[in-house]
Amino acid sequence: MWGGKLHYNRPLMAVTVPSFAKINLGLYIGPPGVRDDGFHELRTVYQTIALSDSIRVDIKSGTGVEIKSKNKRVPEDESNTCWKAAERTMKTLRARGRVVIQIEKNLPVQGGMGAGSSNAVATMFGIERALKQRLDCNQRMRIAEEIGSDVPLFLLGGTVLGISHGEQVFPLQDVPELHLVIATPEVPVSTPKAFKRWDELFAESAPANGKGGGNGSGAPQLTAAGQTDKLERFSRELYSWLCGPASGVPANGGDRAEALLLDLVRTGIENDFERVIFPQYPDLREVKRAVERTRARYVSLSGSGSTIYGIFDSAAAAQQAAKELNAKDIPAQATRTLGRAEYLKAVHGA
Ligand code: C5P
Repeated sequence: MWGGKLHYNRPLMAVTVPSFAKINLGLYIGPPGVRDDGFHELRTVYQTIALSDSIRVDIKSGTGVEIKSKNKRVPEDESNTCWKAAERTMKTLRARGRVVIQIEKNLPVQGGMGAGSSNAVATMFGIERALKQRLDCNQRMRIAEEIGSDVPLFLLGGTVLGISHGEQVFPLQDVPELHLVIATPEVPVSTPKAFKRWDELFAESAPANGKGGGNGSGAPQLTAAGQTDKLERFSRELYSWLCGPASGVPANGGDRAEALLLDLVRTGIENDFERVIFPQYPDLREVKRAVERTRARYVSLSGSGSTIYGIFDSAAAAQQAAKELNAKDIPAQATRTLGRAEYLKAVHGA
């Protein structure tokens, strides 16, 4: 039983909160077996984007949580991230009531866009707004970390540095608005399984019988030292992004988005999950190639996939690319990055 100190004189208003997606602008995974908790060390830059699910929170009399969704792939039990967020938020606020959560899904389930994680934060904010009570920053962060590695980033929104296993987040200066195409092939990818496969790739790369080993795929071998080097290199690359031309108006009066794109391409920012996912799902590699052929400036898998995003020079170019991909039966839509101020205003209903 929850502590329940609140008594409501009148029915509480239902609140609807947009639940935005994210992409990863680069993602580096550390070698297996380093952390005591079994997680993998990560370095990534998360970026929220203007595609969203919608979470409606209604607090009624009674106790417990109820989840409703028309999408059959959304679990309606305690395994749902929204359920976990609702239980923890009510308990921390010492509030009473039955939390009814309606999830309107536009984002793919297990798509690498953090939809489930974002849904959890939208639920937390929805309950706060419905009850007109606020968690403090530390309470929000504790709940978010308990639910999953990708959840805390949605407390901040915009451009966010993620370290440790992805749950330690730091707001970065927002990148300039970028025009995107998000391709969402219908391949649900399990993130825990992708990490497991990463560990297997390391084992396969280990030298065998003193003959040097190899993973037989022709791809560069994975070694603990090499991967640790890559994590460090990413930190340095990020530092040069942050103090390079992309962080401010370039001296020559050029375009900040253009400078950022040049930085991304020049430094070869990549997503390590591509090494795991593309050999397992060759169709996804083909989708990446198809997006590249639409004259995208930069294309990458997001998270562990299956979402693949492309960055374009203009909204018109992104829309044209989405049309071309749809004509090839690849589900895709044009959108843009969502900066922190706009994100926070939308989720807090300010
Ligand atoms: O934190 P989250 O629930 O998203 O993680 C799901 C699973 O993915 C974890 O239980 C762990 O097996 C794996 N994981 C990992 N390293 C990370 C993040 C997740 O091994 N950095």
